[in-house]
Amino acid sequence: MNWKAIPLVSGAAACPAHPPGRPAGPGPGPGPGDEPPGRHLRELRTAPLDLLRRAAHEGTHGLARLDAGPGACLVVNDPAAIDVVLADRDAVFFKPKMELWKRVLGENVLTSEGPDWASSRRRSVRITGARYVRRAARIVAGAADERLRHWTGTDPLDIHEEMRSLTLAATLRQLCGTDADFDLRAFSHHLRTVMECIHALESAPAAPAEHDDVRREFSRAATELRTSVLNLVAHHPGGRDDLIGLLTDAPGEPLTVRQVCDEVLAHLIAGHESTATSLAWALLLLAGDPAVTERVRTEIDTAVGDRAPEDADLARMPLLRAVFLEALRLYPPAWTIMRATGRPSVVGGVRIPAGAVLLVSPYGVQRSERWFEGPDEFRPERWLGGGRNGDPKYTFFPFGGGRRSCPGRQLALVTGGVVLTRVLQGFSLAPVGDPLRAAVDIILRPRPGTRLRATPRQPEPAGHRKESR
Ligand code: HEM
Repeated sequence: MNWKAIPLVSGAAACPAHPPGRPAGPGPGPGPGDEPPGRHLRELRTAPLDLLRRAAHEGTHGLARLDAGPGACLVVNDPAAIDVVLADRDAVFFKPKMELWKRVLGENVLTSEGPDWASSRRRSVRITGARYVRRAARIVAGAADERLRHWTGTDPLDIHEEMRSLTLAATLRQLCGTDADFDLRAFSHHLRTVMECIHALESAPAAPAEHDDVRREFSRAATELRTSVLNLVAHHPGGRDDLIGLLTDAPGEPLTVRQVCDEVLAHLIAGHESTATSLAWALLLLAGDPAVTERVRTEIDTAVGDRAPEDADLARMPLLRAVFLEALRLYPPAWTIMRATGRPSVVGGVRIPAGAVLLVSPYGVQRSERWFEGPDEFRPERWLGGGRNGDPKYTFFPFGGGRRSCPGRQLALVTGGVVLTRVLQGFSLAPVGDPLRAAVDIILRPRPGTRLRATPRQPEPAGHRKESR
C-alpha cells in the first residue's frame, strides 16, 4: 500500500463521520476540492496538540496522514509502527531539521548521525552511567536546598523558571564539579531565546525581513551559549571525577576542546531543560491535588523523614515516582519526535518514499483513551503495583525509544524524585490563577508565567534545616 492511500486526518471542526475518540475507518479522506492544500499546516503551528490527539485515533495501518505541504507527512500512532521507526533496525530514518541546532551545539550525540553519532553515543552512555546516577542524588539535593532557601512564601513562584535554575545548577555540578563563576541566569536566558527562535524559524513561514530579526537574535544567543561553555571547558582543571574529566580522559584519541564543548553543551541542555519542565508540571499537578500531595508526604515521612533522599531511598517511595511518571504522561516535554526517511522504507506495511517526514507523538499516544482510562486526568495510582505492565511498550515513551532513546532517563528519574521530595518536605503548595494550560515550542511547557504558591511548612524550609552537601 502506498502512503497516499492513508486517509487524511479529519479537520479541526469535528468530522460528523468520525467524532473525536472514534477511529476513522480506512478509505480515502476528503478530496482535494474540500479544503485548500496544506490544510494542516496552520493547525500544526497554532494547535498542534489537538491535531496530534486526533491523529492518534485516525488513519490506518498505524499511520495518519497530514496535509502539510507537497511531501509525505505521517503521524505514526500505533505501538508496533512506532517501534519500527524508533528502533530503526535498517538505519533508514534520521533526525531532520538539525541545522540550526548544529550551529548552537556543534556535532554531538544529539545532532549527528552515522559513525560520528555512534561514538558520541558511547561517550554519552558512559557519562550518564550508573556511577554518575548514584552520585546525582547528593548533588541534586544540594542544588535543590540552595534554591529552596529563596522560597519565602511571600510571592507566587514562576515554577518553570525556578525548576530551570535548579536543574541547570545541578547539571553543571555533575558536568564540571561546580557552578561557581558560571552565569546561570544569562545561560538560561540565552537558551530560551535559542529555543524560541528555532521554533519560530522552523514552524512559521514569515516574510524574510521578519525572519532576519529572529536569525540575528538566534545568532547572538547561540554565540553567547557556546562562549560560556567553551570558557568552562578551557578552564576546567582536568583530572577531576566529573563528567568533563571523564570526557577528557576517555580512552582512544583525545577530544579537542571544541569536541568536549559540543558534548557538554548537548548534555547541559538535554539534561536540564526537560527535567525542569517535567518537575514544574509535577509540582503544578500536586498543587491542584491536595489529597495526592498528602499521601505522597506520608510516604516521604515514612521513607526518609526530613533528611535528603539517597538514590536507594527512591525505591521506597513508589507514589512519588508515580507522580513524576504521571506528569510525564500528561505533559511529555518531548511532545513529538521527528524522523525523516533517508531512503524508501515500509512502516506498517505501507510504502513510504525517501524524504518523508514521520511524527511520533508521545503526547498524542499518552493522551489516548485507547491506552489510558480517563486520559486527561491526573491519576498517579495507575502506575502503582505494576499497573501498566501488560501494555505495549510504545504507549508510554516520554524518553523516546530505540537506538536514540534518552541516555539520561535514570538521571532524570533520580533528579525528579529528589527535587519533589525536598519541595514536599519543606513546603505546602497551592495553585495560583487559571487552570493549567500548556504552551508548545520545542518542548511542552507550562504557559509562560504559570505560578504556584509554596508556603514554608515549618519555621525553617528544607534548605535551612539540613545541609545535604
Ligand atoms: C524528564 C527528563 C527527560 C526527558 C523527558 C527526555 C526525553 C528525551 C527524548 C524523548 C529523547 C529522544 C529524542 C529523539 O529520539 O529524537 C532524548 C534524547 C536524549 N536525551 Fe533526554 N530526556 C530527559 C532527560 C535527560 C537527561 C537528564 C540527559 C542527560 C544528562 C538527557 C540526555 C539526552 C541525550 C544526550 C539524548 C540524545 C540521544 C541520542 O540521540 O542518541 N536527557 N531525551
